[in-house]
Amino acid sequence: MFINKLLLVLIISPFVAALTGKELLDFAVKQYTKAVHEIKTGVRCPSIGRPTATAWDTLPVVTSDFRVGFYPGILWYLYEYTNDKTWKELAITATEAEADIQYINRTHDIGFDIMGSFGNGYRLTKNEKYSKVIVTAANTLATRFNPKVGCTRSWNSKKPDQFIVIADNMMNLELLFEGSRLSGNKTLYDMAVSHTNVTIREHLRADYSHYQVVMFNETSGHVMKKYTVDGYADHSCWSQAQGWLVSGLTTAYRYTRAEYILRAAEGVAKYFIDKSPADGIPYWDYDVPHDSNHTYIPRDSSAAATAASGLIELYEFTKNDKYLIGFKRIMESLNGDRYRADAKPEYKIPALFLNGTTSFKKSIYDTAMIFGDYYYVKSFKYYLDL
Ligand SMILES: *[C@@H]1O[C@H](CO)[C@@H](O)[C@H](O)[C@H]1NC(C)=O
Ligand SMILES: *[C@@H]1O[C@H](CO)[C@@H](O)[C@H](O)[C@H]1NC(C)=O
Ligand SMILES: *[C@@H]1O[C@H](CO)[C@@H](O)[C@H](O)[C@H]1NC(C)=O
Ligand SMILES: *[C@@H]1O[C@H](CO)[C@@H](O)[C@H](O)[C@H]1NC(C)=O
Ligand SMILES: *[C@@H]1O[C@H](CO)[C@@H](O)[C@H](O)[C@H]1NC(C)=O
Ligand SMILES: *[C@@H]1O[C@H](CO)[C@@H](O)[C@H](O)[C@H]1NC(C)=O
Repeated sequence: MFINKLLLVLIISPFVAALTGKELLDFAVKQYTKAVHEIKTGVRCPSIGRPTATAWDTLPVVTSDFRVGFYPGILWYLYEYTNDKTWKELAITATEAEADIQYINRTHDIGFDIMGSFGNGYRLTKNEKYSKVIVTAANTLATRFNPKVGCTRSWNSKKPDQFIVIADNMMNLELLFEGSRLSGNKTLYDMAVSHTNVTIREHLRADYSHYQVVMFNETSGHVMKKYTVDGYADHSCWSQAQGWLVSGLTTAYRYTRAEYILRAAEGVAKYFIDKSPADGIPYWDYDVPHDSNHTYIPRDSSAAATAASGLIELYEFTKNDKYLIGFKRIMESLNGDRYRADAKPEYKIPALFLNGTTSFKKSIYDTAMIFGDYYYVKSFKYYLDL
């Protein structure tokens, strides 16, 4: 059954030649075998990979930055893929060094951080210590929940009454869902569902694009303002958070099996597929005008890799070929000459692909991104297992 579908896809998609997840994971093993030599695993974590640098830019392991869970996560996936205990030992070192993140309550990003490291560690080892960290971290994130708004707070604000929620925060809910599953505490689950409901109601637009930021009045629960910080304009659709929504809403569906969440996940996924250029990799914002004032408009490959991780799971849930084709188009492109991190001799960075954009406004674009690599590896493992 699946084989037939695969053949169909091979015939109808011009971008799909001979995509085998295996080759791509072999490439990941090769690149990360190089990368780990330069990374002080357990002390620093890679974040951005500039094309001609030989080593990744790094962050300390315990921080409130959203990116520190991805490196341990990649190491866990490489262990799962190769069954080689060298990767397992590295993954354990990288993960356990991040234990103190479970208590960090000044940011919502502990969802990203803990699920990348301890979440994958628990998935593969069933180590009870890891389960405890996940549950504690979920309860830490829960301290940011406001019942009046129905959401966990994203960014802190010093102004009275302001309660800021960003669309990206859908990705942190997996920690609440998983913390609830592991502890049996239904409150954590209800918070995640409530946050999902508010995101669908307030962040999504009728065409399934989104507002990145919604500011609520935390006393009344009313919406004060909808705008963007990282996107091109308040009315535009920032590709990275569109990717977070594809993945985050699909994850919320995995835990809830609620039809209205599936509809929302499919809506944002269709937007991502239909509005991206032919190679499946969006520009950094879907609505940047292609005119003389915007002479260089970079892509966002990491947004595409993130979306791909949702698309392959959506395909599993719905068996709708649109998502499998969308997934393959993205993965083929990332693995091709236009994006791959070894596409040109002058590229030295031991990463998987370039052309990620974290912030066009801060001039961070056309580089490898650790989260892009993470979602690429995660997606391919998922695809191979299907
Ligand atoms: C965060 O943790 C600190 C120290 O444990 C505590 O004083 C503070 O009240 C906590 N903040 C929230 C929002 O729970
Ligand atoms: C369930 O989670 C909520 C939110 O973190 C917390 O207030 C409550 O104490 C937890 N209940 C138990 C039994 O741990
Ligand atoms: C979420 O929305 C669904 C569908 O409208 C509703 O049935 C459910 O009660 C809501 N849950 C929460 C916690 O808001
Ligand atoms: C927030 O809502 C409360 C209660 O309705 C109101 O008193 C307060 O003025 C509002 N704050 C802002 C900044 O609008
Ligand atoms: C380019 O920017 C200038 C200055 O802001 C503006 O006057 C002009 O209309 C813009 N051109 C286009 C094509 O939007
Ligand atoms: C990808 O980034 C490289 C430099 O990092 C750049 O030269 C190239 O044009 C970019 N490719 C695309 C498709 O934007």
